[in-house]
Amino acid sequence: MSSQTTPSPAWKALEAHRDQIAALRVDELFASDPGRGASLTFACGPLTVDLSKQRMTGETLAALLALARERDMGAAIERLFTGSRVNVTEDRPALHAALRGDERVLVDGEDVVPAMQRGRERMRSFSTAVREGAWKGATGEPIRHVLSLGIGGSYLGPRLVTEALLAQADGPAVRFLANVDPAALDDALAGLDPATTLVVVGSKTFTTQETLANALAARAWITAKLGEGAVARHFVAATANIAEAARFGLPECNVFAFADGVGGRYSVWSSVGLPAAIAVGMPAFERFLGGAHAVDLEFRSAPPERNAPLLLALAGLWNRDLLGIPVHAVLPYAQRLASLPGYLQQLEMESNGKRVQADGSPVEQPTCPALFGEAGTLGQHSFYQWLHQGTQEASCDFIVVARAMGSREAEHAVLLANALAQSEALMTGSSTGDAHRDCPGNRPSTTIVLPSLEPAALGALVALYEHKVYAQGVLWGVNPFDQFGVELGKAIAGRILTAFTAPQAPLHPATSHLLGVIRKAAQGSPPR
Ligand code: F6P
Repeated sequence: MSSQTTPSPAWKALEAHRDQIAALRVDELFASDPGRGASLTFACGPLTVDLSKQRMTGETLAALLALARERDMGAAIERLFTGSRVNVTEDRPALHAALRGDERVLVDGEDVVPAMQRGRERMRSFSTAVREGAWKGATGEPIRHVLSLGIGGSYLGPRLVTEALLAQADGPAVRFLANVDPAALDDALAGLDPATTLVVVGSKTFTTQETLANALAARAWITAKLGEGAVARHFVAATANIAEAARFGLPECNVFAFADGVGGRYSVWSSVGLPAAIAVGMPAFERFLGGAHAVDLEFRSAPPERNAPLLLALAGLWNRDLLGIPVHAVLPYAQRLASLPGYLQQLEMESNGKRVQADGSPVEQPTCPALFGEAGTLGQHSFYQWLHQGTQEASCDFIVVARAMGSREAEHAVLLANALAQSEALMTGSSTGDAHRDCPGNRPSTTIVLPSLEPAALGALVALYEHKVYAQGVLWGVNPFDQFGVELGKAIAGRILTAFTAPQAPLHPATSHLLGVIRKAAQGSPPR
């Protein structure tokens, strides 16, 4: 990943092609080529990815693939899977794919996979012991609830998997607490009994302020009833920082470690997934890993013109940079995937929300679009008006699950009909003769079909997006594996927090003013 000369030949060709097809409408392309659906639909492990509603032709794809070639995408993909230090600013490899495969991955000459497999074995025996009641709390009772603490990737991943695989969840119920908000803490603890609760602290660094504050509060809640000696029966950690977990008071056997080369937002495949593994069982969790691994193999070996993660990345770049569409909506038509937009918000925006290339030079084009979303059909009754008639265009991903869960076919048909209707409506628009009712259409969308909401398909879906993000990082020349932009706010929050106890601590005048307003407001009588 390095800076390119501006504009490169492939980029110039893309811009010229974009100008040539500026007036093109997708519905007209379908009218002239009814086979378009089939020719722009691609298999990806258990998934099917339909790009036919993208505002592009075969020539567009060819021009985009030329850009990928120009950026040496094949070599970049190989670097990801072979332990190269693709996280150049932090001089680290990105090892998330190694967590779900069995191929050797050499880092500094050493294969990192056996240690990962041992980590997986520990997850298996621990999650099984908790699920079967062999792991007892301090009073000898089995665990009935898991309280999962963590934020960012240490929260979004395990929550997504636990919610999406609810049909498989036959272990202790899992509650998630991410925000450092006393009300959220109270809500998370409400009705739980310390004697039957296991707290899993997920934090790669084990230094994240929000997570540690919640972990200390949960620890006090446990020890108040069960005593200090109960910590080792009621707390475990998923972390890359064993030393900090030890400082918290956890013996090494309660620490499920993972490699430093696994990024936080890519960590659900590691012990960070432990809460989900306890909920659904290790066999289901391993099918989740297996589905991702199938997509890894495809990303690594499928020819570019049939490589779905790469094509998804290219379609995204086309929309963002050539068509100038700054917003992307993720629309899962499955209530159990309601957390997916939030998960992808971190994955995409924290990875590729960057303004400089890996070598520090400015990027040459806009990078990651703003991403938002909502489970269908809820979004239809909220922001779809904006999608259809707003002045700002958005691209959309529709996520559709082909088979109904259980036997409720009729409701599932309603859900599917709505997903299909919306992607059709965004494409065709309408022309009624009434300006208030007209929809311009020609809004690009992708539809991703899962055969059913089972572990392998979920793993494949998440890996598809991970690889899309990596490929876009390569295309934009940015490092998708660092997140220095989040550090500034963390440092300032630390400084402001000291001002709560040391009023003379220097503060920015704007902050000092607002803190005064907040203090005054806090002095008013509380609402009843
Ligand atoms: O928001 C920044 C970030 O570092 C994310 O990348 C990460 O997922 C989150 O904080 C939590 O970090 P940790 O797992 O180290 O507590």
